[in-house]
Amino acid sequence: MGLGYRDFRRILEGRALPCAVVDLDAMARNAARLASTLAGSGKTLRVASKSVRHVGLLRRLLAHTDAFRGLMCFTPAEAAFLLGEGFDDLLVAYPSVDRAGLEAVAQAVARGATIRLMADDPAHLAAYADAGRAAGVTLEVLLELDMAYRPPGGLHLGVLRSPLREPAQVGELARRAQGLDGVRVVGLMGYEAQVAGLPDETPFSRALNPARRAIKRLSIPQIAERRRRAVAALEEAGVELALVNGGGTGSLASTVTEPWVTEVTAGSGFLCPHLFDYYRRSALEPAAFFALEVCRWPTEGVVTCLGGGYVASGEPGWDRLPLPHLPEGLAYVSAEGAGEVQTPLRVRGERPAIGAPVIFRHAKAGELAERFDAYLLVSGGEAVAVEPTYRGQGRCFL
Ligand SMILES: Cc1ncc(COP(=O)(O)O)c(C=O)c1O
Repeated sequence: MGLGYRDFRRILEGRALPCAVVDLDAMARNAARLASTLAGSGKTLRVASKSVRHVGLLRRLLAHTDAFRGLMCFTPAEAAFLLGEGFDDLLVAYPSVDRAGLEAVAQAVARGATIRLMADDPAHLAAYADAGRAAGVTLEVLLELDMAYRPPGGLHLGVLRSPLREPAQVGELARRAQGLDGVRVVGLMGYEAQVAGLPDETPFSRALNPARRAIKRLSIPQIAERRRRAVAALEEAGVELALVNGGGTGSLASTVTEPWVTEVTAGSGFLCPHLFDYYRRSALEPAAFFALEVCRWPTEGVVTCLGGGYVASGEPGWDRLPLPHLPEGLAYVSAEGAGEVQTPLRVRGERPAIGAPVIFRHAKAGELAERFDAYLLVSGGEAVAVEPTYRGQGRCFL
């Protein structure tokens, strides 16, 4: 069903390389798969903009179903930009005290926009309250609960973000906010990275897969219970909860089962970068690609491509490199990996000719957009549009 090498060759004929390609049909099928995980839950899905970074694709995703509602943004300045692009219901999920960004958010809220901010520290609340008061509005804030799994022995399995580990701490910060003009707590977010962002069937470090599955199995009930108690703590503190957000692509199935969660978040699953191939029971399919030009035949059984060093963020490792996708049978040369301007690949079988495209998949969904000004959009196996990424719009937020 997905695009084969012949399709790519036809679509890319006469186009300059490197070229990034998004298969809109595959993206729509992924959207349908993610939407089906919500079925009957009464919950909505907030699209994580960081995993897309492309206005045209964000619009298409939100139009997919009424159950997809709102965007999870990554900075206040990005939220202000997206508002200017016609989006609303924006949740900035990462705290920032950037004054200009907060001012832009507060002014947008004063004009009627819905933009909410994230806090886990009195310093965040103070900065938001200042911006709110200066614009004559009350800024709505969610508190982030740390969802890491902490087995005995001092381990912290999850991300290092919020220091609010216990539900009581969340209640306490909410009470503190009540003493501030210009800010109001209206919700809770908890991102269970050790479930949502942990591939558990990865070929890059197979031996650890059973341990990763065990972490997920053990932490899922804990996550649910901790989130439930945090919701109770906020209610006890007199907070009227507008939203309780949780999850990511890799944890939708478990997060939607929590009754107190009102919405889940997903982004990566729409484009399915190659890191999302390595989740057990994942049925997602690749929808984003980039093509490099074969520019040299340096030795028997090797071609060299022009460009390609688009290494992804996160714990360094071979899994962070783009995956040679098509034609089949290509592999990195370990001494070089994905190079700044030259990427050699070992070839099993016939070598693609000089000038032919090699198709790769990025390890992560949103970072590809930072490498290209535009995506070539494909539907029905044909190019249908070329639309700018954030970068193509002259925007770079992080
Ligand atoms: C707060 C938060 N929610 C949700 C997600 C999930 O995003 P995705 O579906 O792209 O993995 C992330 C990813 O890092 C996140 O930071």
